[in-house]
Amino acid sequence: MTNKDLETIKENVPSAWIPSLDSLIVKGKNAEIWDKNSNRYLDYVGGYAVLNTGHLNPRVVKKVEEQLKNYSHSCFAFAPHENAINVAEQLNKRYPIEESTKTFLVNSGAESVENATKIARYFTKRKNIIAFKGGFHGRTYLTMGLTGKENPYKMGFGPFPEFIHHAEYPYAYRDITDEMAIESLNEILNKQVDIDDVAAFVVEIQLGEGGYIPASKYFLQELKNISSKNGILLIFDEVQTGFGRTGEMFGANTVGVSPDIATLAKGIAGGFPLAAVVGKSEVMDSIHDAGIGSTFGASPISCAAALGVLDVFDKDNLLENTKQQAELMNDSLNRLMNESPFIGDVRGYGTMIGVEIVEDQDTKKPAKEIALKIIDACKDNGLLLVNCGLEGNVIRFMGPLTTPLGQVDEALDIFNNSVINI
Ligand SMILES: Cc1ncc(COP(=O)(O)O)c(C=O)c1O
Repeated sequence: MTNKDLETIKENVPSAWIPSLDSLIVKGKNAEIWDKNSNRYLDYVGGYAVLNTGHLNPRVVKKVEEQLKNYSHSCFAFAPHENAINVAEQLNKRYPIEESTKTFLVNSGAESVENATKIARYFTKRKNIIAFKGGFHGRTYLTMGLTGKENPYKMGFGPFPEFIHHAEYPYAYRDITDEMAIESLNEILNKQVDIDDVAAFVVEIQLGEGGYIPASKYFLQELKNISSKNGILLIFDEVQTGFGRTGEMFGANTVGVSPDIATLAKGIAGGFPLAAVVGKSEVMDSIHDAGIGSTFGASPISCAAALGVLDVFDKDNLLENTKQQAELMNDSLNRLMNESPFIGDVRGYGTMIGVEIVEDQDTKKPAKEIALKIIDACKDNGLLLVNCGLEGNVIRFMGPLTTPLGQVDEALDIFNNSVINI
């Protein structure tokens, strides 16, 4: 980006929102993007795990173009439209909750988590919510409160609601076992709150911002057992794990545990803003008339895009490609772990893979600076990546699930060379 471009950004947006990439993006096609200087990159940031079906997927574009011939917006609560009805119907059919479900459509991940929590408290008539350390749930006050990562998300913005409590999230590489995490949850339930006044557990199936740390089926099943035994609702925040990221359609399919409520966003509409709360009908229907709503929530354009995304899954065998990608990535990154002292751990469901960078494999000391150097070297060689984790030392892969396997190889080559030459 030119100095002038940077100055214009600095003059016009708050400093906390200055982008990390020093290139202005002008064009995208599936997994590739180009900047103003015609540099081409493989986009393994994907708008932060949004572009599961790539930039401008033809099936998404087709649905959006069809909708744009008809009308631009209608607030669903007043004038319903077929696109939203079809999306709700499809999500109810596809999300793996055993009982009948209903779907409420909103704009963003945070709004979906906010609403899921609001609905859970209303249904249970209980106050407390338990979330997990390292979890990320959004930027509104409630979702900031739920978030278990202080810097940069919560720092200086408190106080947060006192009814939110954080238990440990299992982290095998750092010796936090499933049993330790369950024990910390039980400690809160037995000592810090009245268990009969807990409305919900809010949990990610795999931590996103928190460091791409997958939770085991055992841990999630335990959460389900404890919650259902005590009249607590289990909310899976699938904003990042949904729509193929974990190798199956939803994270709940991958782990074989189903919640009472799930939140979905990011990959749901191929880059258009849309999010959803899918929950058991009994829970979703408990709210009084007009107690939930959203002006832009079920945008007909975003809903059209979401129907295009579902077409990609159904007609282009997307999950098969995802599995092949995940295999290639795991093979290559695990081999790299044997060659480089800086790779401490390679982990994650499906293509949602995190690589933990350490000073060396014995001390396991988190090495954010080395992670950032690797990310810079990748960028210089045409691959975009970002970091995550409580210590900022995990590099995560968020490329489109539609990436051709040849480009997956290309991305892995760039990554491997950058690590080896660091
Ligand atoms: C698991 C999870 N929940 C919620 C959110 C918030 O979503 P949004 O930025 O769309 O509000 C995110 C965003 O990264 C997320 O990863």
